[in-house]
Amino acid sequence: MPEGNLYEQIIDAVHANYGSHPGRRALHAKGSWARGTFKATAEAAHLSRAPHLQGDEVAALVRFSNASGDPEADDAERDGRGMALKLRWDGGETDILATTSPTFATRTPEDFLELLLLRRPDPATGQPDMEKLGAFLGEHPETAPAAQAILMQEPIASFAAAAYFSPHAFALLDADKNRTWVRYRFVPDAGEERIDDDEAKLRGRDYLHTEIAERLATATVGFDLQLQLAADDDPLDDPTAVWPQERELIAVGRLELTEAADDPERDGHIDVFDPTRIVDGIELSDDPVLLARPKAYSVSAYKRWDRD
Ligand code: HEM
Repeated sequence: MPEGNLYEQIIDAVHANYGSHPGRRALHAKGSWARGTFKATAEAAHLSRAPHLQGDEVAALVRFSNASGDPEADDAERDGRGMALKLRWDGGETDILATTSPTFATRTPEDFLELLLLRRPDPATGQPDMEKLGAFLGEHPETAPAAQAILMQEPIASFAAAAYFSPHAFALLDADKNRTWVRYRFVPDAGEERIDDDEAKLRGRDYLHTEIAERLATATVGFDLQLQLAADDDPLDDPTAVWPQERELIAVGRLELTEAADDPERDGHIDVFDPTRIVDGIELSDDPVLLARPKAYSVSAYKRWDRD
């Protein structure tokens, strides 16, 4: 019988699948850091009164990651890749988390726990029970778009040459409290580039992390922050739902990363990226996955801070 509340059970299940690595994130354990600036477009201020969307340049801290809970994960593995952004300005802070998959695998944290438990490798074979996993996927067709994006696509060529998406809806509130429901995405200046599996293996197990550090040593890495605008019938609380491609996209800001940064997490200091860390001018949706995340991240953060 699993112990603890839902979020402790999720982190225990993650640890059972990937191993428990003291001092490391339970998921997205392998990461590279970068610093730069974010500057909102004029359009952003029309949509939201949030301080970081008024057009002043603000400081940006980014962490690129492999979704795996294994800090030694091979960069050639087919898996999600993450980009977490922290914006800090005088008196405020907000985070945006995104991955290379436009949607998430499950509608609820309970289903995510079930999926994690089914993915646990059998000690005898080293493989999960594929029959049970197949039955889950049959009962949960909403998982297919994320599985497709994560497993069926070849590895990205560079952290700088990938688009990153947040599958949750957020509302932007303007000065008159008009609400616009949106999803975030980061679109790379370098364009999107993938390489085949053999080429990724040839580049070596840390090729993404080595490359982004080398790239930042000589060049700026840029992304447009875009908003995908919801239509009236787009679900706002379902991170598995694909919003149609023809939905309007609006560029609301420029992210320019100018240098690689050392892992700032040392001497007891940790940084947690939390998708619910929002400010006035932005509101959360009722998406149960979004609302569960800070609780699961707190358990993960507590465990990595408590290194013994
Ligand atoms: C119930 C659903 C989810 C659970 C339980 C979960 C769990 C976790 C955990 C435990 C961490 C490490 C947290 C830490 O120690 O700071 C993490 C990191 C992360 N998650 Fe999730 N996650 C979920 C959904 C999502 C979704 C929908 C996205 C899509 C944007 C996402 C993107 C990320 C990213 C980018 C990171 C790395 C953040 C960093 O670099 O610090 N997660 N997740």
